[in-house]
Formats: sequence, structure tokens, C-alpha cells
Amino acid sequence: MDMMSRIAALAADCIHTLWPDAEGLPDAEALRGFLAVPPDPALGDYAFPCFRLSKPLRMAPPKIAEALCEAWSHGDVAAVKPVNGYMNFFLNRENFAREMMTLLQAQGERFGASDMGAGKTICLDYSSINIAKRFHIGHLSTTVLGNSLKRIFDFLGYRTVGINHLGDWGTQFGKMICAYLKWGSREQVEQGGVAALEQLYIRFHQEAEKDPALEDEGRLWFKKIEEGDPEALEIFHWFKDLTLRDAQRVYDLLGVSFDSYAGESFYVDKTGAIVDELREKGLLTQSEGAWVVDLSEDNMPPCLILKKDGATIYATRDLAAAKYRQDTYHFDKCLYVVAYQQDLHFRQVFRVLEKMGYAWAKDCVHVSFGMVSYEGEALSTRKGITVHLDDLLSQAIEKARTIMEEKSPDLPNRDDVARQVGIGAVIYSDLSNNRIKDIDFHWDRALNFDGETGPYVQYTHARCCSLLRKAEALSLPEPDWAALTDDEAQSLLRLISRFPDVIQEAAARYEPSLITRAVTDIAQAYNKYYYEHRILDGEPAQAAARVALTDAVRAVVKTGLFLIGIEAPERM
Ligand code: ARG
Repeated sequence: MDMMSRIAALAADCIHTLWPDAEGLPDAEALRGFLAVPPDPALGDYAFPCFRLSKPLRMAPPKIAEALCEAWSHGDVAAVKPVNGYMNFFLNRENFAREMMTLLQAQGERFGASDMGAGKTICLDYSSINIAKRFHIGHLSTTVLGNSLKRIFDFLGYRTVGINHLGDWGTQFGKMICAYLKWGSREQVEQGGVAALEQLYIRFHQEAEKDPALEDEGRLWFKKIEEGDPEALEIFHWFKDLTLRDAQRVYDLLGVSFDSYAGESFYVDKTGAIVDELREKGLLTQSEGAWVVDLSEDNMPPCLILKKDGATIYATRDLAAAKYRQDTYHFDKCLYVVAYQQDLHFRQVFRVLEKMGYAWAKDCVHVSFGMVSYEGEALSTRKGITVHLDDLLSQAIEKARTIMEEKSPDLPNRDDVARQVGIGAVIYSDLSNNRIKDIDFHWDRALNFDGETGPYVQYTHARCCSLLRKAEALSLPEPDWAALTDDEAQSLLRLISRFPDVIQEAAARYEPSLITRAVTDIAQAYNKYYYEHRILDGEPAQAAARVALTDAVRAVVKTGLFLIGIEAPERM
């Protein structure tokens, strides 16, 4: 049991012993929720606001606080003091250190893990790139956010299903085939990859302005894809392979993976059943030749289902996808990690599912995040206002390598570490902001290695590892936990003790940045500790305690980094 739950349980006990007959008193769990952490440690480690009991007890909070402190008989766990209607707890430092360290030594890198999600499934739709488009910073946030959320839910015991809902359906692919057959060649596209496909697409639009007949030709090629024409399909699949091959390089660098690549095209043959169902349930109405679901009652524009020509659209495929995911995975939650520009789209889709009578529609959640701009300007592939992820990642790695060649020329696996550190900087800078905040991408910010950054936290981890390597040679005795009662060790332990709560809150709010914050605070607190205390010097039993604390920090920092998707090198 963690310290906060322990205090809550003892306090609940104390309350129920004092007032056995009162009704409506909180139990230990409710009480834990009421415990506050005073902003000034001089006021105590925890504080219980006694006004929470004034109603059932019909007493004023200061009186309650006094009675409780009087009756408190667990001085070995914490001293208590009534202050302005609060019952303030001052943990017994040695006792706290012993309990935390025992827990940390037992759990190691699993500290903060849980089985709260046992038997529950979470689908996560993230990254979801578009075929024949280069992977650029517009898709970075969804990729790293989704990956981090998946790891967080895994760690809490959920079964997770990571889905890359590929954008691989639409008339643009007809146009691209048309452009390829007119102006492209196998060799040129094989060599140029996705960039070459983008060029062909741009050329198509330029030429179509002069010659509108091209549009019809493009539509014809898309129709061929729809009808399963072998030539069209062969080219289309080749485009898809090229895109995924490029993307896989980025995913490998970022350490991101998926359980399914079922994208839009996968659902095309499942949209018919959705349309029939909508019609049977009386939800389809005709509007200017198209079929829509009217959502005026919900103050939303109608959700377009079938275009005039009978073709399905993005929303239709998302309806089919949601139903397929529920039927296949029986999810308890389906998260869509997509930028807030698609807010209306998801509200419409979720509302239509609800109107269809699916109770699980409420379990679909749009985990939205802010817009990305590039050095102050809106992203535009056409105007070249963007950064391709392969460029970003290779520059980050290059920079890490340069710094390391200078600072640690003898590092054995420098290439590996440069990759881990460069990528760490990029991921950290994306996950250090509240997700809903807009991000203005700046090269120098993404490649910053100083101050609160991924490399700083990674460096702290490596520092712990290096100290532990030195300690191994010393054959230290059993630790004396009284050595961890100083202010620095205590605030470090206090931060660590909250880490499991932080993970759960990050999951509940779909907010990995909480973990980024916590792991940074722990790293800073450890570095402070490191400078104020000579860890390996002094009494061997004291050194043993400090070394054990160092090992606990190493494990917690490694876990925290892992949960946000960053590797933790042991040497830097
Ligand atoms: N491919 C889309 C885009 O790049 C994102 C898809 C998100 N997922 C979904 N089920 N609609 O904008």
C-alpha cells in the first residue's frame, strides 16, 4: 500500500473509532481522495480538510481536527497537528524512507504498474497516415501521443490494440495513377519514393487547370480501383507499399508499433451494411441528391453518408470501422488520437452511432490535440511549409552525435546512444506540453538538449547507472534507512511516492505530459540530492541506503521515459 493510502486508512480508522454511530462518514478510499498535499512542506506532508466531516458530525472543522489529532495513536507513521480545521500529517521520516524503499526494491521497474485494467480492452487509433504523402510533423503528435497512451494503458494492465487507420481510399488515388501513367515511370518512382508520388500529384493539379478532362480521367481510374481492375489495383498497392516502407523507417526510429493497419480501404466493403442499417432505422434523409443523417437536433450540420454518385465518404468508413472494432475487439474504450480540426467529424460520427442505438458509442473518445504550425506559419505541403520526419529525426541524431563526440569520445556504442538521445529530444519536446496546446514547431526547440529536455532526463538515468557501476565494486552492507531522512532525500522520495498516481491520472486524462513533468521533477530532485550528498562516501550502511535510493531513481526514471516512448541509455 502506498503512503497516502496508508495514512488514509489509519485516519479512516481513527474517525470510525471516535464516532462509531455517525452515518455518512467517508471510508479509507474516499478519504484518500480528500487528502491534500500542502504547498509548503513545513505545513506537513498531507493534510485532511475536516470540513468534509462537518455535515455528518454536525461539528465545526477546527473541533473535528482537534478531536482527531487527540485520538491519533500512530506517531510512528506520522505526527499530526490541527491547523485551521485541517488535520496535518508529518510523516515519520525514517519510517517513510524504510517503507518507500522496501516497496521500491520489491517492485523495481514495475513500480506504478497495476492490474486495474485487467479484462478491459482499449483500442487506440493513432498516427493513421495517408498513402502517397510524406510523413511530416503534422503527424508527429498523434504518433507519439498514441504510442505513449498505449504503453501507459498496457502498464496499467489493460489489453491494448494499436490501430493505424491508414488514409488509403479516395479519388486522389485515381488521379495519382493517372498522373503516374502519363508522366511517371517505375524507376523514377522506385527511386524517388513517396516524394516522387507527391510531385506527380502536384503536377496532376497543375495540368488539370489547363485541361479539365484530366479530372474525369482521374475519376475513371478511381472507379477502376473500386471495381477491382487488376492494373489499377497493382499500381495502387505498389503506392501503398512504398508509403508504408518509408513510414516504417520512421516508426522504427521512434520505437512505435501497431497491432493493425486496417485503414479506410479495409472498411469499404463494410459500408454497405452500415448504409442499410441507417436506412432501416429511418436515419437516412436525402439532401440535394446525397444521403445524410440529420443532426439539427444536436446543433450539428448533417453527417454526409453517401455522395450524389453513391460513393461513401470518410465518415461512412469511420462508422463501419467503429462497429468493426466493437465487434472484433469488444473495446471498453476506443480512443481516436487526432488533431482537433476533426472535432466536428468525430462528434458527428459518435452521435450517429448513438442514434443507431449503440450504447458503446459513449466509449468512443476523441483524444484531440493542438495544431502544429511551422515557425509561425500554418503547415502546407504545397507551399513547402513543413518538416519531414525523416529530416527531423536524422538532424536530431546528427546533433546528438556531434555533442557526444565532443563530450564523451570514448563511448562504446556511440551510434546507438546518439539515436536514442536525438529521438528522445524530439519525443520529449512533443510530449512536454499539455496536448491541447497548439505547437509551433521550431528547429532549435526540437533540437534543444539543455534545460528541461529528454536528454537531460536521459542523462540523469545514465548518471544513476554510472554510480551504481561504481557501487558494485564496494560490497556494501544492509542499508541504514535513517540515512535518507534529510530534506533532499525526503522530497525525492515524496515525488517518487506520487508517481503511481501520476500514471493513473495520465491515463484518466489521456495526458502523457503529466508523466513527462513527473519524471523531470524526479530527475531534478535527484540531481539536487547528488550535489548535496556524497553518495559513496561515509558510513558503509549509509552509503548503501543512498545507493539503493539511486537504484530506485534509476528504475522510476527508466519507467517514466519508457511510458512516454523514450529509451534510457545506461551510458552517455
Ligand atoms: N488519416 C487521417 C488524417 O491524416 C486521420 C485518421 C484518423 N482516424 C480515423 N479513424 N478517422 O487526417
